[in-house]
Amino acid sequence: MICADIVKGTTKVFGIIGDPVAHSFSPVIQNTIARELGCPMVYVPFPVKRGEASEAIKGGFKLGIEGFNVTVPHKTDVMDALTDMDSLAKKIGAVNTLKRMENGYKGYNTDILGLEKSLILKGVSLFGKTVVVLGAGGAARCAVLLAADRQASEIYIVNRTLDKARELMTHVNKFYNTSVKAISYQELLNIPNPEIVIQTTSLGMENTKSSTPVEEVSFFKKVEVVLEIIYTPWKTKLLLDAERAGCISINGFDMLLYQGMASYEIWNDVKIDKELSAKLSKSLTEYYKNL
Ligand code: ATR
Repeated sequence: MICADIVKGTTKVFGIIGDPVAHSFSPVIQNTIARELGCPMVYVPFPVKRGEASEAIKGGFKLGIEGFNVTVPHKTDVMDALTDMDSLAKKIGAVNTLKRMENGYKGYNTDILGLEKSLILKGVSLFGKTVVVLGAGGAARCAVLLAADRQASEIYIVNRTLDKARELMTHVNKFYNTSVKAISYQELLNIPNPEIVIQTTSLGMENTKSSTPVEEVSFFKKVEVVLEIIYTPWKTKLLLDAERAGCISINGFDMLLYQGMASYEIWNDVKIDKELSAKLSKSLTEYYKNL
């Protein structure tokens, strides 16, 4: 069998670095978009150990690799090895997309774009809303900066380690004068009008699927929308509790898809139109749910 239609001498190479990467769905997303658009590229997983991202990126540049996605635990560390950073990525302090330039890679953050798109698709605007972000790690940074940038009226950062929530609050207030408060889970029920909740902690994933960061389900009575960044399981306990209380629920799969589409657009200088993105979303969602 001749495989010239898959990889040949002119094929552009992209990949994802992370540890672990074996579970990543990004190769399926990127290779599907590339086939759909007839782009001569391949996208492969690169397992890179913690602390070795900068070295890996330098090697990748020498190997002619056109671009990378960056996942846990390298989203901050890898910034040292970049020649340029997009202004939004600088504000967030994390990158998930690297594009090859003349002398090195430029870093972007498309997680924030994916997050915004998954809200827009459900008709949710953060403007003027009280936004509650659960967690204060990398994903929470995107959620809090998006809420501030889109003029949420108030932001609450809720975290087990309060100091980390306070640090994030201070960071956001360097760029925006939005009212931001750092609170503990015990104070959750005191929030007067929690309209939109964005869940960014790892609690509720497959290995902790009977757990939720919000044990008091009466909290959801006043909430309108809950966005969960986890998509395995498809619906976390938190999302099921929110649905039972009548909230609009959104899982993290659209955020994953749309951050991937935004990375593809950056790498290939193209725009994926609405029709194609809806078509890709439908087929990739069906495929993932049947895995
Ligand atoms: P990411 O970059 O994916 O956001 P992270 O930076 O490791 O990952 O952050 C994980 C978040 O999940 C943190 O807010 C963490 O809370 P702490 O700062 O207190 O560690 C939160 N988290 C993880 N396990 C948790 C648990 N069992 N209960 C509550 N929060 C938890």
